[in-house]
Amino acid sequence: MPTEPPVILLLSGSLRAASSNESALRTAESVAASAGVRTIRYTGLADLPHFNPDDDHDPLPGPVVELRTAIAEAAAVLICAPEYAGTLPGSFKNLLDWTVGGTEICDKPVAWVNVAPAGRGGGAEATLRTVLSYTGAAIVEPACVRIALSQGMAGPDGVVADEDVRSGLRRVLERLAEAA
Ligand SMILES: Cc1cc2nc3c(=O)[nH]c(=O)nc-3n(C[C@H](O)[C@H](O)[C@H](O)COP(=O)(O)O)c2cc1C
Repeated sequence: MPTEPPVILLLSGSLRAASSNESALRTAESVAASAGVRTIRYTGLADLPHFNPDDDHDPLPGPVVELRTAIAEAAAVLICAPEYAGTLPGSFKNLLDWTVGGTEICDKPVAWVNVAPAGRGGGAEATLRTVLSYTGAAIVEPACVRIALSQGMAGPDGVVADEDVRSGLRRVLERLAEAA
């Protein structure tokens, strides 16, 4: 019996329509089969309510159930998030806050790709490391890399054709799959 490819959940930290972080994840999606994985792109970031510990109990808000279920069902998680004002965008930190009260992300292999130009985005990476360590996620260091995406690299579908970018993302997925 052939084994099912591991599922990698793709989380974008940007709500921007022409987001470079979203482009990186769409490109990862387009190389997933060649990396031997299946990807699911999470699209519920804008629907999550503001985190409030008073609401972090059953019955949970629907979008939170969707998020936690998506994490639970994935073998690994790949994050691409921009840096705003030296750290993560508030909306993405809000998503991570919603993972703290659940156990789904505990011991889950997680990596991030920094798509910012050289020398940028380090604050977002530092925050990801702090928050993910706090949640108990298993950070897959060899899969946490920089793959700079410049403006205009993505086609109208958000997918990048550049072979260096594609092979870099393929390697990230392979390393996450190995850790899964
Ligand atoms: C409000 C705001 C604050 C930003 N602050 C930073 C910053 O502190 N450091 C940085 O490297 N880039 C910063 N940037 C640049 C973004 O990280 C950059 O535009 C990134 O490409 C956005 O990601 P996206 O294309 O996926 O939306 C900021 C952008 C905005 C809109």
